[in-house]
Amino acid sequence: MTELSRVLVAAALVLAAGCQKKEPRVEPPPPEKITRGKEVIGTLKKTLVGALTKELPNGAPAAIAACSSLAPALAQSLSTEGIQVGRATRKPRNPANAAAGWTADALTRFEKMKADGKDLAGASYARRLPDGRTAYAEPLVIQDLCLACHGTDLAPDVTAILAEKYPTDTATGYAAGDLRGLAWVELP
Ligand code: HEC
Repeated sequence: MTELSRVLVAAALVLAAGCQKKEPRVEPPPPEKITRGKEVIGTLKKTLVGALTKELPNGAPAAIAACSSLAPALAQSLSTEGIQVGRATRKPRNPANAAAGWTADALTRFEKMKADGKDLAGASYARRLPDGRTAYAEPLVIQDLCLACHGTDLAPDVTAILAEKYPTDTATGYAAGDLRGLAWVELP
């Protein structure tokens, strides 16, 4: 090796080390955390659809109350485990549910899948966050059941309650099969 090539190799090594420092390899999340995340989101989806199915025949006000209180109630019960859970979307009804940070990245992935004609059933997103927590999300797709409150022709009483409770609502105009958003969980 000539002196010049030695210097070049050394310089390349220093550069490579420098790059590695700037972008540490992100470890994949532990499998047991993903399993727990799946469970939590399974519970959220099941409770939500169950409550809506039960309350919709009792009229919009009862069903709307169910939809707004369920996610926070589940979040409360899981907080002892240090688990955070919620829903995120590009078209929020509750502004607190606007997708941001990693939930926006996950949504971009699901949107791309949908645009590519891939089936969203069973789709998921998992990564380890810079602070070591596990992030996990699953898409939420509009079913017929959802249209009473997220579709195009809403009943006057639904429109009235939504206007009163959610003055900045953008979560209408959906059709069955549309990607509504995602359910997310962060685990310690
Ligand atoms: C009875 C009315 C009603 C029905 C039916 C309903 N929702 Fe909602 N949805 C709401 C209300 C009210 C909120 C705002 C909740 C809050 O305050 O966090 C909401 C919020 C959401 C959010 C959180 C993002 C946001 O916009 O705030 C998602 C995601 C969502 N709904 C998906 C669905 C899906 C999927 C279905 C069908 C399985 C469905 N909803 C059925 C009333 C309804």
